Amino acid sequence: MIKYLGSKRRLVPQIVALAQAIPEARTALDLFTGTTRVAQGLKAAGFTVTANDCASYSGVLAEAYIATDAAAVDSTRMMALLAELDALPGERGYVTRTFCEDARYFQPANGERIDAIRAGIDRLARTPTERAIALTSLLEAADRVDSTTGQQMAYLKQWSTRSHRTLSLRMPTLLAGAGRALCEDARVCAARDDVYDVVYLDPPYNQHSYYGNYHIWETLVRGDAPESYGVARKRTDVRTTKSVFNLRGAAWNALRDVVLTLRARHVILSFSNEGFLSNAALRALLVERFGEVAMVPVDSPRYVGARIGIHNLRGERVGEVSHLRNTEWLFVAGPDAAGVVARAGMEAAVLPADPDASPFQEAS
Ligand SMILES: C[S@@+](CC[C@H](N)C(=O)[O-])C[C@H]1O[C@@H](n2cnc3c(N)ncnc32)[C@H](O)[C@@H]1O
Repeated sequence: MIKYLGSKRRLVPQIVALAQAIPEARTALDLFTGTTRVAQGLKAAGFTVTANDCASYSGVLAEAYIATDAAAVDSTRMMALLAELDALPGERGYVTRTFCEDARYFQPANGERIDAIRAGIDRLARTPTERAIALTSLLEAADRVDSTTGQQMAYLKQWSTRSHRTLSLRMPTLLAGAGRALCEDARVCAARDDVYDVVYLDPPYNQHSYYGNYHIWETLVRGDAPESYGVARKRTDVRTTKSVFNLRGAAWNALRDVVLTLRARHVILSFSNEGFLSNAALRALLVERFGEVAMVPVDSPRYVGARIGIHNLRGERVGEVSHLRNTEWLFVAGPDAAGVVARAGMEAAVLPADPDASPFQEAS
């Protein structure tokens, strides 16, 4: 799995336990699926899962891990394809020039391997499923040899240790069962007629754009060699491609639209205490739509970048962060929400209702 800001790696067991504690729940939507970790957890637990995200790289991960039924994959053919791609000689192309010479995200030898494999996927993958699995394998292989703290707004001043390893493809661990991948704006996806037993919501919680922070994955999946700018060599369309969920003034109404339009019996929403929407307002919104809400606080270490320190655009360490842990809140909304939390073996926090709550978190 790729390193990802806001990834719910540590929360997957709790989220899956909550979903399993919902009576007769069989279908699930992960509306902001990112790495697809939560969707994978739900699929592995037997749910029929739809994974959605507006990012192209996330769409590819969802196609491989969620929409593909491992039992239907010809693994001999797939392993042979990955071996053939892995054996291609390096070739200097867009990735090498932009991300290894103009910037230093990968060692040039690995950049040449990425260029050769990416072009090879277009030539050699015979079906959309093969393409998604091969691209997933390439994204994960590139992530294992990058020289960043996990975000692509900067690269490290000194090469990371892992960047010296030779990039190599592995077969992703696919899951058996049916599923669906969508690559839509969350509001469009929420407005579909599809009905789910449970919807998991994990929207961006601050102003940091995933499109800008993971521009290399976006470019690698699209294979479109865009013009780039600045030290970080971001795609120029990063300047104009903004998610409404990253805009403090608009995120609240966007999330409100999503919650009020989606068709679900239960919702599980996670939100960080460092996000710009307040718990009281999120809770009031969920009560308005679903009637009953229970909230579970989960203490977690902050994102790896925070632990590594603050870096400038040139990858130089310029400061330390003030705290290393944060609280992630899991909201469960729907019939007998408190019972769902109790059956999942968790304890809900009791907070006083505040119907006049401001949508925004107080600045700390
Ligand atoms: C907090 S991350 C989700 C992380 C995910 N739960 C995981 O564990 O990997 C938020 C996700 O929302 C996606 N996103 C941002 N704006 C969106 C929009 N308007 N519609 C759909 N997805 C969006 C981002 O691409 C990002 O992957």
